[in-house]
Amino acid sequence: SWSAASFVDTTVAELKEQLGNDRVILGLSGGVDSSVAAVLLHRAIGKNLTCIFVDHGLLRKNEFKNVMNDYECLGLNVIGVDASEKFFKDLEGVTEPEQKRKIIGRDFVEVFDAEAHKITDARWLAQGTIYPDRIESLNITGKTIKSHHNVGGLPEEMNLRLCEPLQWLFKDEVRRVGRELGMPEHLITRHPFPGPGLAVRILGDITPEKVHTLQEADDIFIQGLRDWKVEDADGNETSLYHQVWQAGVILLPVQSVGVMGDERTYERAVALRAVTSTDAMTADWAHLPYEFLGKVSNDIINKVKGVNRVTYDISSKPPSTIEWE
Ligand code: XMP
Repeated sequence: SWSAASFVDTTVAELKEQLGNDRVILGLSGGVDSSVAAVLLHRAIGKNLTCIFVDHGLLRKNEFKNVMNDYECLGLNVIGVDASEKFFKDLEGVTEPEQKRKIIGRDFVEVFDAEAHKITDARWLAQGTIYPDRIESLNITGKTIKSHHNVGGLPEEMNLRLCEPLQWLFKDEVRRVGRELGMPEHLITRHPFPGPGLAVRILGDITPEKVHTLQEADDIFIQGLRDWKVEDADGNETSLYHQVWQAGVILLPVQSVGVMGDERTYERAVALRAVTSTDAMTADWAHLPYEFLGKVSNDIINKVKGVNRVTYDISSKPPSTIEWE
């Protein structure tokens, strides 16, 4: 049967053989897959691995800083690129979901390619692609529901060869490989997060102010899930964060009337979204405790300027999707 330890041994040996003394570039997203791919490659080729982490300005609160710090602790050689200004400029006034995704995908490739070109002796592009990614991109039905993007392929004219050491693995296997490699648990158990980031959780046009508002609300929700301890089926302590597949807050293009003290308010509404799933192909809305939802609602309304209403999304996939755009 499959074991993470023998996967690591075999793959490290194969990568050494395959890559020799070549330089390899890898795009990091902060997510589990690319992080595990990076640590695996680092074990095989060490300093010959250069990672690139693009900040499109649509990450969660403090995420770029925290993840960069994690990567440095893992001994990875990471180039962090803050390209948020470019993304905000190109997204200005854009409201249509697929158009947002296209702009972000295009900008991402542009920024990544520009950075990759500076590494002139690179021979390989490594990616954290896993098995389900490849199945989904076969696009069996021929209909694009949402144009998912990761790294948009090989930088042109660089003659790079593709290296995808996790291409046969499922998510749970990737997590086991990460543990085998000694990666910190918080990196391994992170929720999935969409490539276009908070852009697909802000309905309507995107501004830095809206991103800031959403980051604050999202941080309260996610931190709340982490802090709320529960017992799992075996009686072990866990948290709501670990019981759900994924969670986040959506900023709605809706304002509603409220009252604060004896003042009328007219502010934004947000939706909380949390789902359970095993592969994101189908998902059920998470039956979070009412007391927890009540606490998060109070915290968000009291602490996040510009938000006076919190709702909970009770739709499942299908027919809804996990993200709202
Ligand atoms: P949906 O919204 O289609 O999402 O039910 C399924 C899963 O995919 C994530 N997602 C993305 N991941 N690039 C990604 O890497 C994307 O463009 C993208 N869009 C959605 C979503 O967060 C969920 O986990």
